[in-house]
Amino acid sequence: LVHAIGIDIGGTKIAGALVSETGEIIAEDRQPTPAGERGQIVDLVVAMIDRLATGHEVTAAGVAAAGFVDAAQSTVYYAPNISWRNEPLQRLISERVSMPITIDNDANAAGWAEYRFGAGRAVTDMTMLTIGTGVGGAIVTQGHLFRGGFGAGAELGHLRVVPDGLACGCGARGCIEQYGSGRALLRMANALADAGGIGLALAEARAANGELNGTIVGEFIAAGDPGAVHALQELGRWLGQACASLSAVLDPQLFVFGGGVAVAGDLLLDPIREAYLQHLPARGYHPEPGFVIAELENDAGVVGAADLARIHATAH
Ligand code: BGC
Ligand code: NA
Ligand code: ZN
Repeated sequence: LVHAIGIDIGGTKIAGALVSETGEIIAEDRQPTPAGERGQIVDLVVAMIDRLATGHEVTAAGVAAAGFVDAAQSTVYYAPNISWRNEPLQRLISERVSMPITIDNDANAAGWAEYRFGAGRAVTDMTMLTIGTGVGGAIVTQGHLFRGGFGAGAELGHLRVVPDGLACGCGARGCIEQYGSGRALLRMANALADAGGIGLALAEARAANGELNGTIVGEFIAAGDPGAVHALQELGRWLGQACASLSAVLDPQLFVFGGGVAVAGDLLLDPIREAYLQHLPARGYHPEPGFVIAELENDAGVVGAADLARIHATAH
């Protein structure tokens, strides 16, 4: 059996897995993302690939990264939340390993995994949004992963939803990433804590902990705290509006939501669906797509990166 390796470089951790042709994880590894100079990330990825490949026949390795990736799948043009600018990741890694390496956008990898093996396996047209530190996007249309002319398409987090709105890490303003991400949720939770009222319990937790973080807000949501749930609903309404516009462009049968914030499940999906139906062009006449939470959770990035690397290697 011929396996492929998938690596997912995130802001806080780097995950790696040896993956079979049917999407099964044979072995996996997880390390904190080095905070120092950028070369440390490459060192860690190379070591992880070596470890995962030992004793196996491996066709290729795919590396998923949180940024705009070029059409050759080798360079990260720009990463809004990491310090990569024209980072030649493919060259830096492939110089040091003995198998073909391809770079992919992290959300594209996750979306592809959901399409092949997860929530999207029954449809031909699927749009995925990953709701984490940033907002990532993946588009599968007629069974194909959409990349765009320069490779950097499907950056759905940078869809402009507010004219001259909040400044985004991409350099533009008003992107959905500033209204629909985990960071935006934290900002909204802090604003509620400042205002008192339904934000009172959040304010108390903030005072006790020094600051709010994703874990605290997540626990508050799970416990049904009115302030935290309100913030999540606001996030959902922004995302639902964005999906309405995306429907006019992409017309998917299914919207899939992944990333850390998506563990909220229906509490997130309900306001998304409601805002979507309210803002949908041709509402009442346009068929209604499905809205679901991703199935592969934390594994989507590594499974998708491995599968895309295998497809890339066997096509050349
Ligand atoms: C980046 C994307 C990435 C997403 C999720 C965004 O800020 O532009 O490339 O997919 O965050 O990590
Ligand atoms: Na993408
Ligand atoms: Zn942006």
